[in-house]
Amino acid sequence: GKTIVVTGCSSGIGAETVRLLRTRGARVIGMDRHEPLLSLDGFVKADLSEQAAIDDAVRQLPERIDALANVAGVPGTAQADAVARVNFLGLRHLSLRLLERMGEGGSIVNVSSILGAEWPARLEAHRALAETPGFEAGLAWLARHPVAQETCYQYFKEALIVWTLTQSQKIFLRQGVRMNCVAPGPVLTPILGDFVAMLGEERVQKDAHRMKRPALADEVAPVIAFLCSDDARWVSGINLPVDGGLASTYV
Ligand code: NAI
Repeated sequence: GKTIVVTGCSSGIGAETVRLLRTRGARVIGMDRHEPLLSLDGFVKADLSEQAAIDDAVRQLPERIDALANVAGVPGTAQADAVARVNFLGLRHLSLRLLERMGEGGSIVNVSSILGAEWPARLEAHRALAETPGFEAGLAWLARHPVAQETCYQYFKEALIVWTLTQSQKIFLRQGVRMNCVAPGPVLTPILGDFVAMLGEERVQKDAHRMKRPALADEVAPVIAFLCSDDARWVSGINLPVDGGLASTYV
């Protein structure tokens, strides 16, 4: 079986991804700031908003990793600085550190969101941030290009999509490691209520009405597992919606 690291393993989509991957025979190491509720093959407690904490955690991980699922994330009700750190800068730092431990056939899966769909509108800014390597340099870039609190969640999901799409080509050609995003619509997890606070009751009700219900975490986890697996060995550089068709209803 593969050795797979899953961040955000202690709740929601991450917990369900751990459960499914283990059912299918993988050795799964979880990372989260909270203790997991379910059993794992290994767990590293870490605050993924801090570069030093990520580096400490990486030292506790196995020498060889086959896949990384970056599921940990905070909603836009958190401070913009925390959203930048967890949803983009820390995720990117961890991915680059674990890339060093992957060989041909490796896979990185990043959980974006349909709320990141408007990345083409800010492509130049996202490209500039994507091409500013390093956690501290990223923070310095953001100090010069501040992001509004109201739209920070969308902004850093967009940044994640642009980074994934642009860097995946290089990573795949150089190392044979694939990198992709999964973009869920509303999912029934503890942070769903935060989206109501972020977007307003009306928008969330409208989306819920269009699809009749939010997704369940076990409707998102299999797609993450697929992109981690060898069945997806020729899939690289995509942002795959898992939204029951919600995004298409806006066309
Ligand atoms: P959740 O809140 O149930 O799980 C998130 C996990 O990330 C938690 O276990 C939390 O402890 C962990 N985490 C947060 N900040 C951390 C930090 N600084 N260090 C370490 N761990 C940290 O949320 P859910 O819904 O499972 O979210 C997973 C991902 O899916 C997130 O990236 C979220 O943005 C994304 N997403 C969720 C949607 C939804 O409707 N629930 C919709 C679209 C995307």
